[in-house]
Amino acid sequence: MLAGDASWEHISDALDTHSGFLARFTAEQKVQTNEVGRLWLILPALLATGAPRIELLELGASAGLLLYPDRYRYRYRAGEWGSGGHLLEGEERGAVPAALLSGSFEVVRRRGVDLAPVDVTADEGVQTLRSFIWAGQEDRFARLDAAVEVVRREPPELIAADYVEVLPELLAEPADGLRVVLTSMTTFYLPEERYQQLLSVLARAGRKQPLAWVSLGTRGDGIEGSSLDLTTWPGGETRRLALTDYHLAWLDWLGECPMCDRPWNPRGHAAR
Ligand SMILES: C[S@@+](CC[C@H](N)C(=O)[O-])C[C@H]1O[C@@H](n2cnc3c(N)ncnc32)[C@H](O)[C@@H]1O
Repeated sequence: MLAGDASWEHISDALDTHSGFLARFTAEQKVQTNEVGRLWLILPALLATGAPRIELLELGASAGLLLYPDRYRYRYRAGEWGSGGHLLEGEERGAVPAALLSGSFEVVRRRGVDLAPVDVTADEGVQTLRSFIWAGQEDRFARLDAAVEVVRREPPELIAADYVEVLPELLAEPADGLRVVLTSMTTFYLPEERYQQLLSVLARAGRKQPLAWVSLGTRGDGIEGSSLDLTTWPGGETRRLALTDYHLAWLDWLGECPMCDRPWNPRGHAAR
């Protein structure tokens, strides 16, 4: 159907005709959702780092669509941010502070790691991501089309690997600006032992150079739903910035603008 050779009225015929392919596809292809709408939730956390230059490293990046936060326009209750073409918006229960939205940053590097990265510079990769969007979700198809255009203009560095394995090596490189590790809807795939390993790799790296970790998702740590958390080094302090639901349908910002009174300072990070 995505290839345009069948319609919903003829779904049964199409399922029969392509049964061999569909059996193979569902057996071999893991679910791959890379939803660029999640950037609407993530952007305030990037602004909360207060860093003017950001090196983004996404773990579990899929096609790397989230590596382009600076290429969209965002609408929040307190105002808009960015000048990109496609507008991202959502439901705010607790509003993102206006002071945060007056910040800006430049993304100086875009790297992603995934067990099975999707290459959307090839049409097959786009088809893979389209196949995981429910029929009729036209806004998601439109967001994906916009994101593919963005990626094709400036493809990211995508590394096929287990991110827990390769992270020490990636974090050992000196960063240009603040290195921000991003995890979005991925750490719940890790067994507890691997998750603890991830935490200690991040903490070790944070002792050597400034580092931030933006985490969207949940590992069932006592909250109902999901959360947006920011951890910064030096110090390794974690702030829970917002709550959201499992489907990331809304954002409930907690508290005020965490870094507004403590601008980015590469030596001490938080300049008080
Ligand atoms: C639900 S998708 C989320 C994609 C993207 N982060 C987003 O939020 O749109 C989770 C991704 O994590 C990847 N993944 C899970 N465990 C991984 C691991 N240990 N190493 C690398 N990638 C992993 C999967 O391959 C998948 O692409």
